[in-house]
Amino acid sequence: MSPVSTPTTICVTGAGGFIASWIVKLLLEKGYVVRGTVRNPDDAKNNHLRELEGAKERLTLCKADLLDFESLREAIIGCDGVFHTASPVTDDPEQMVEPAVTGTRNVIVASAEAKVKRVIFTSSIGAVYMDPNRSHDVVVDESCWSDLEFCMNTKNWYCYGKVLAEQAAWDEAKARGVDLVVVNPVLVMGPLLQPTVNASIIHILKYLTGSAKTYANSVQAYVDVRDVALIHILLFETPSASGRYLCTESVLHRGEVVEILAKFFPEYPIPTKCKDETKPRAKPYKFSNQKLKDLGLELKTVKQSLYETVKSLQEKGHLPVQPTQTDDIHIRS
Ligand SMILES: NC(=O)c1ccc[n+]([C@@H]2O[C@H](COP(=O)([O-])OP(=O)(O)OC[C@H]3O[C@@H](n4cnc5c(N)ncnc54)[C@H](OP(=O)(O)O)[C@@H]3O)[C@@H](O)[C@H]2O)c1
Repeated sequence: MSPVSTPTTICVTGAGGFIASWIVKLLLEKGYVVRGTVRNPDDAKNNHLRELEGAKERLTLCKADLLDFESLREAIIGCDGVFHTASPVTDDPEQMVEPAVTGTRNVIVASAEAKVKRVIFTSSIGAVYMDPNRSHDVVVDESCWSDLEFCMNTKNWYCYGKVLAEQAAWDEAKARGVDLVVVNPVLVMGPLLQPTVNASIIHILKYLTGSAKTYANSVQAYVDVRDVALIHILLFETPSASGRYLCTESVLHRGEVVEILAKFFPEYPIPTKCKDETKPRAKPYKFSNQKLKDLGLELKTVKQSLYETVKSLQEKGHLPVQPTQTDDIHIRS
């Protein structure tokens, strides 16, 4: 499936997003022809895509909305593969569930009509992890599914929507004979290509701006955006790839995250206190990323990824670059 003589054409839905922008960049670097769907090709927030190396020759941006089947069909027809990353990322049930689920069905139906070789769907750890009945000792892997009732009762509409969207993808792919492979990333961070700040990066940014005065007594799994993008491509290029791929590097307590940030960037007002110090510190859960390792992927460490996330936020003007004390001394001397 890798491009040899005739270039392979891939449709990437939601091309201007955080993860998708990296997918588009890496696809272009590998010589693929890319059709990126965006809701508004004229919006300046998508300009970074046109500036990518190879974009002038091999990137087309198509206007498409997840709830507009015809627009997706036009974008997907003639493509060899589809990477479906577009989704609302919100806990507002009205905005989340319908576009995520119907949009995913639309993408799979259009892919079946276009007879694409494979669809890679970006699901989430949100469709895997949310199950209060799973014992803490269980190793979280691709066989785990979030509990829909629990997501509903806790008003976690993002996870609820991602579970239903992934189930819809599997059902529709099976019914229509589409070769589907699913990526389930945990919280994704790393350098931004797009000019705006997406939801997962806000989780890091809030610790640097002073808006979070404390950190939560909870754990979170992390992975770098460049690895997530690469995994999408590897899964398309590996004929034997199948099923779901949990995409995670490590699980850290929020206290460890703020410690790493404070060591690298002491100039920011990073919280030092836990919101809930009376309860025992939340323990990390166990997970398996064996399927990723079997693909031969070496994942970037959380430390490197956190560092480069902040550097990128500075470069894009989302964080002031304040001189450290050492720089001050250096400048004065
Ligand atoms: N970032 C993470 O930590 C993480 C973790 C696990 C899974 N994921 C999944 O990865 C995918 C990409 O996430 P991301 O972090 O890159 O988010 P993002 O930057 O917010 O990108 C989401 C993209 O989806 C598009 N979109 C939203 N609603 C749409 C609609 N109705 N029709 C067409 N396009 C629509 C957005 O387009 P506009 O620009 O037009 O708004 C945007 O380009 C999502 O499926 C998300 O659930 C993300």
